[in-house]
Amino acid sequence: MISYDTVKKLMFNFEPETAHSIAEYGLKILPHCRMINNYMVEKNFVNHDMLTQKLFNTTFHNPIGLGAGFDKNATMIKAMPAMGFGYTEIGTMTPKPQAGNAKPRLFRYPEEEAIQNAMGFNNHGAYEVIGNLKKVYPYTIPIGASIGKNKLTPENCALEDYETLVRGFKDIADYLVVNISSPNTPNLRDLQNEEFIKAMFTMAKSITNKPVLLKIAPDMENETAIELCKTAVQYGADGIVATNTTQDYSLLNNIQGIKDGKPFGGLSGAIMSDKSFDIFEAIAKELYGKTTLISVGGISDAKDAYRRIKAGASLVQILSGFIFKGPAMCKDINNELIELLKADGYENIKDAIGANYR
Ligand SMILES: Cc1cc2nc3c(=O)[nH]c(=O)nc-3n(C[C@H](O)[C@H](O)[C@H](O)COP(=O)(O)O)c2cc1C
Repeated sequence: MISYDTVKKLMFNFEPETAHSIAEYGLKILPHCRMINNYMVEKNFVNHDMLTQKLFNTTFHNPIGLGAGFDKNATMIKAMPAMGFGYTEIGTMTPKPQAGNAKPRLFRYPEEEAIQNAMGFNNHGAYEVIGNLKKVYPYTIPIGASIGKNKLTPENCALEDYETLVRGFKDIADYLVVNISSPNTPNLRDLQNEEFIKAMFTMAKSITNKPVLLKIAPDMENETAIELCKTAVQYGADGIVATNTTQDYSLLNNIQGIKDGKPFGGLSGAIMSDKSFDIFEAIAKELYGKTTLISVGGISDAKDAYRRIKAGASLVQILSGFIFKGPAMCKDINNELIELLKADGYENIKDAIGANYR
């Protein structure tokens, strides 16, 4: 088999969006190549008692999920076990299809293992994505669906977009995530306010018993994030996903994406690990034991995944790290997590989740 380093060298010759389309094509056809797919599942998918837990009325065989934004249209779900992921989050989808922001809008920083993106919820729209999901769901790994408003929907009609999406996806995903934290849809982050969150979760919980989570941005004071998350949980949110990409451009020296003299979009990858962890931990200190917590942002090795777990994360997600490390990443992290659990005397991941507070 060709090494991922070779694949990466080849792929990084292409513009990031072209490389993503090639990867999507490959991951769409992989499940049809049964022998190769089975070989890769065997090799990369860690299914171990110590990492297995029941959450959201389903079973997670390992805690490493693919973060939202890689599989926006639910076209690659079937390839995810071969990539080692224990679950996947598709989207973010909007009610109507939309093209996203003007290009170039995706930049990679191989040395820093970072990504800058200003995609802007480019997706084929709920109707098509629902069609794709219906062909797959339920699947051998849990599927989350990330939902967002259309760019052209005014702020005072945003709730209607989310209602349409909750209704559309509630029966064809294991959990839903309300995305009001992308920096790439104008004013979307303004919806991170108490009033909208109350209305959002009151609406969602009146429609479905499926778990509905809130995904938040890392670019606010810890106190503000804690208050918003507490409100979400008080009004029925089943969990918090922290965090989305950051607009802290001081984390990178040589920013490539600049418009009108200013950097744009959100940064992700190794450079945001501590930033994402700090806000996650602040939220977890308040909400661990009261709701389910998912940590995402800059994770690319087992040590980082484990510190999130001990700080209260039941699950973690990775997007940028997958681009730089490839399909062996999840396997390596999961196998090392088993060793870390054993070294601390734990029998199951559940014993380690939130261990810092016991
Ligand atoms: C190209 C790209 C597109 C993204 N699109 C979305 C999205 O549509 N919805 C979302 O909730 N997060 C999106 N994200 C954020 C990721 O899900 C994740 O929260 C963030 O990248 C931090 O994790 P990472 O450092 O492992 O990449 C996107 C990230 C990248 C790099």
